[in-house]
Formats: sequence, structure tokens, C-alpha cells
Amino acid sequence: MSTRTYGSSADGIGYDTSSTRPVARRRPDPRIAGLIARALGDARSVLNVGAGTGSYEIAAHTITAVEPSLAMRAQRPAALATAIDAVAEDLPFADGRFDASMTLFSVHQWSDVEAGLREMRRVTRGPVVVLAHDPARVRDFWLYEYAPDVLDAEVRRHPPLRTLTAALGGTTTVQPVPIPLDCTDGFNEAYYGRPELLLDPAARQACSAWSFIDDRARQDFDTSLRHALGSGAWDAAFGHLRNRPAYDGSLVLLRSTP
Ligand SMILES: C[S@@+](CC[C@H](N)C(=O)[O-])C[C@H]1O[C@@H](n2cnc3c(N)ncnc32)[C@H](O)[C@@H]1O
Repeated sequence: MSTRTYGSSADGIGYDTSSTRPVARRRPDPRIAGLIARALGDARSVLNVGAGTGSYEIAAHTITAVEPSLAMRAQRPAALATAIDAVAEDLPFADGRFDASMTLFSVHQWSDVEAGLREMRRVTRGPVVVLAHDPARVRDFWLYEYAPDVLDAEVRRHPPLRTLTAALGGTTTVQPVPIPLDCTDGFNEAYYGRPELLLDPAARQACSAWSFIDDRARQDFDTSLRHALGSGAWDAAFGHLRNRPAYDGSLVLLRSTP
């Protein structure tokens, strides 16, 4: 269904079917990949919902990918499974069809997150793994001083963790995901110790919340961060982060078993 539109913006990652935005800034980070693989355990058949271009899909699993955006499906590498055009809220699979399932950086875009997670639980025998941002932690990041509207948009979009755990049912563990200093995946907090990189519009374009502010606000951000870096104000307040090997921000991994 090439006319459907999901979400409203980019994530470099654009969700609308006509998007041609680059996904180059979204490179799976091997340390985060390791946490996801451990959470999936010894599963063979794995469902990936909101699969996008296939970040974090690994050859050890037989992957079934679900992705409603034609633009994203079209950008999946040929070596990966062809994604099925469907939505989390209405998965076209029988009960208990998969050993495990995962959804990564996606639940904040679903029209009905509770229905989508209940569907994942229904079609999965073992763990359901969700990588998401905890909205309660989003404003703790230094970026809030320079681009509050961007992070306010993130807080509005990301469902509270209690909503996710309630919809998943069963037993759910919530694990903070340490973000490495040289994180290769291009979400905002990946730049916690490398603020200069967020001056690159292409880096910002890879994080969908930036599309919720206008050109003027983006320019204001650029001016104020450049000034703070040039004057030393950023380093006086946050310079310790330049050497911190990992950052516990808002990124969390949920693992739910029946
Ligand atoms: C930020 S991208 C993440 C893609 C991929 N999981 C990754 O980590 O790179 C979010 C994805 O969720 C998809 N999506 C949006 N609404 C959805 C829904 N209701 N059901 C399933 N996927 C959805 C979007 O099309 C998009 O590809």
C-alpha cells in the first residue's frame, strides 16, 4: 500500500512512503547489537516490527521483517529478508508463530502502541524485546539547554515505560542501555560527548524530532551551540562527558516473557 504514511518525519529514517531521506547516520552500534542479541537469547525465528532498513538484524536469526513504509522497505539491503507491508497493530501471523520478536526505535511512531505490543506478544512464544527511549529521562540530556523544543517533542512522542510494560504483560525487565562514546548509531544522545557533530545538519536529520522545529529554531540552535563551544561555556558545564566511555541516557531495552 504505497500511499500510506506513518509518522510525520524523518529519523533519517523517514517513515512516509515518499521519503528519500538518507539513512546513512543510522549504523547499528555493535555494543547495542550485543545487548539486543543477548535479550533475544537462543531464538531462531525472530520477528522485527518497524524493521526499517534492517538495523540490528543478524544472520544468526531467521528474520521476518514487518515495515509499513515503502521507502524504508525499498532501502533494505538485498541480503536481508524482504519486509512485509503491515503494521504492528495488526500483524498477519498466527499465535505463537515466532521464537522471539523485537522492535527497535519504532514504538513512538505507532498509532496504537498498546495494540501493537499486544500483537507482538500474541505472535511470540518467547521474549518480546523493545528498544525505546524513556520519556522521563529525555530532558536530562545537555541538549535540552540548546534545543528544548526538540526534546519536548521527543517526550511527547515516546510512550511512558509503564504503558509499554502493561501492554506487554507477563514479566518485563527494563535495562538501561549504556551509550558508547563512539556510538555509531545516530540518535541525539549518541553525541553526548561529541557536541560538534550535532552542528552537522545531516546528523540532526537522522533524528526525527528535529523535523518538529522550523528552520529558524534550527538556526538558533546552531548559533547558540557554536557560541557555547567557542566561548568554552559548553566545556565548562559538560566537558567531562568528552572522556566518559559510556553514557546512561534515556535509551532502554525492555525484555518481556509471558
Ligand atoms: C525510527 S525507524 C527504526 C527502524 C529500525 N527499527 C531501526 O532501528 O533502524 C521506525 C520505523 O517504524 C516504522 N513504523 C511506523 N509506524 C509503524 C507501525 N504502526 N507499525 C510498524 N512499524 C511502524 C516506520 O516506518 C519506521 O521504519
